[in-house]
Amino acid sequence: MEPTPAPDLELEHLRAQVAAMSKDAILAQLAAGVIHEINTPIASIFSNIDVIERSLDALEAQLGPASPPKALGLVKVIRNLVQVDRMACQRIAGIIRSLKLHARGEEEGMRTAGLNGLVEDSLLLVGSEYKRRITFVTDLGDLPPVECNPQLIGQALLNLLVNAAQAIEGEGRVTIRTSVDGDWAVISIADSGSGMTDEVKEKIFRTAFSTKALGVGTGLGLPLTYRIITEQHHGTITFDSQLGRGTTFEVRIPIKSKEQ
Ligand SMILES: Nc1ncnc2c1ncn2[C@@H]1O[C@H](COP(=O)(O)OP(=O)(O)OP(=O)(O)O)[C@@H](O)[C@H]1O
Ligand SMILES: [Mg+2]
Repeated sequence: MEPTPAPDLELEHLRAQVAAMSKDAILAQLAAGVIHEINTPIASIFSNIDVIERSLDALEAQLGPASPPKALGLVKVIRNLVQVDRMACQRIAGIIRSLKLHARGEEEGMRTAGLNGLVEDSLLLVGSEYKRRITFVTDLGDLPPVECNPQLIGQALLNLLVNAAQAIEGEGRVTIRTSVDGDWAVISIADSGSGMTDEVKEKIFRTAFSTKALGVGTGLGLPLTYRIITEQHHGTITFDSQLGRGTTFEVRIPIKSKEQ
């Protein structure tokens, strides 16, 4: 008779599966869940804000101009607070949109998209994490829409922006420029960080190469970014780095898709 497998085996199998998932995939799955959980309450706050504003209009009409100034003053205070709440909710909704862009899951595929918008969405995420010590400067040129996979480009930009921020100790600056150069859309990300030694420069696109502490870096960001840009978008990624002064990465994406 076949021995019944110990229940632990199933658990082991599950553990092995989880271990096989890359850090990115786990994060994307978690983010997708969080996005879903946050979207519902945000929608109800938005709709409550509408109702509160309409109720305030009605209240003001009921009170009339001859009401005690204190009552009218209170209505005004509530109106202002509700407006601040609406702006706060809009900001949360913007961050959620950006997280959606980066949380893979429902793969989007290739379509026509504006790179400047993708830069701005990625900045929203990185900016909120690092804005206390890093100044993000943008100089976004006039770009035609390009044929790309927006989720993957978003992922690549996020990797480059996080690397730039992590290369800066204390306060510093990251400058993101976009422009057109002939048939290419060009995105450059320049940081005022540590720069790289020649030895590091040679290895940065290798899988699992990282100079960061365990838990901070896995060394997957740049190899992934390289594949996204070169293999999936037929673009190029180059960099220039000066030790102690900073690094600039330049990404080029063809404006016309291969088929055209
Ligand atoms: N802007 C930069 N300035 C200085 N060094 C950099 C910069 N970008 C990348 N590097 C170097 O390249 C290495 C590899 O980068 P990569 O993004 O692949 O991995 P990571 O950032 O260490 O980890 P992960 O991206 O997986 O969290 C980094 O550990 C760092 O040494
Ligand atoms: Mg990285």
